[in-house]
Amino acid sequence: MPYGGDMMTRGKRKDRISCVRTNPQHVAIIMDGNGRWAKKRGRPRLFGHRAGLETVRRIVKAAPNYGIKYLTLYAFSTENWRRPRLEVEGLFTLLQEYVDKETTELVKQGVRVRFFGNREGLPPEAVKVMAHCEQQTSAGKRLNLGIALNYGGRGEIVRAVQALAARVETGGLKAADITEADLESHLFTHGLPDPDLLIRTSGEQRLSNFLLWQLAYSEIYVTSVLWPDFTEEDLTEALSSYRQRERRFGGIPDKG
Ligand code: IPE
Ligand code: IPE
Ligand code: MG
Repeated sequence: MPYGGDMMTRGKRKDRISCVRTNPQHVAIIMDGNGRWAKKRGRPRLFGHRAGLETVRRIVKAAPNYGIKYLTLYAFSTENWRRPRLEVEGLFTLLQEYVDKETTELVKQGVRVRFFGNREGLPPEAVKVMAHCEQQTSAGKRLNLGIALNYGGRGEIVRAVQALAARVETGGLKAADITEADLESHLFTHGLPDPDLLIRTSGEQRLSNFLLWQLAYSEIYVTSVLWPDFTEEDLTEALSSYRQRERRFGGIPDKG
């Protein structure tokens, strides 16, 4: 390959350099701070998780009004199993309740739900409710809601590499021919556009193993607001910050 990569990639990337001005089509959110929100009130952590689900309701309802077509929420990481058993169990009960109760409303709102993550190891009742929700909402056209549950970015990439390696083993694919698109096709998010904007609440400035592949060129917005306190107004602030960004994708600013 010539120095600097192939011209097609370079040309394609260059076309995309611009000050954004329009709202993102895909927003990903690391919903953080439920525990601290509860602690501030002298209440158990699960109280914070319950309040966090109210925020999910609000933001899912609001998102399509801003032109957002894809919303991906980090609900439970593969590392969150390190938490006390009672918190994990309580969290799954709450999530399951939310998905179960909310499915009809999501259908009405035109929301299509997909869960990203490993289903093995999840409570069977939760897996059932998730599959039912995906199936019931599958015709939704207004918003694609991704819920990352038992999800880890590194694990997702390893899983994709294993699938590619299996194809190489059976002779269907040559190692040297593997492309980014091949790897992408084995991710949980295959076929979806990458997030344009990543929002993280509660002030932490890290990815915590979220969408490591997909966030390669996303704009990042961190707010100190704790997730249960995050409002539609906070979302519009994040969107307004995004609109002022200049996305370069490795190129140079387009100031002509
Ligand atoms: C985010 O809130 C929700 C999950 C990770 C499930 P946290 O529970 O991480 O809240 P903090 O970070 O302890 O405040
Ligand atoms: C990230 O938050 C995971 C979710 C929001 C589901 P954490 O609270 O688990 O992240 P760390 O531990 O602070 O990095
Ligand atoms: Mg946290």
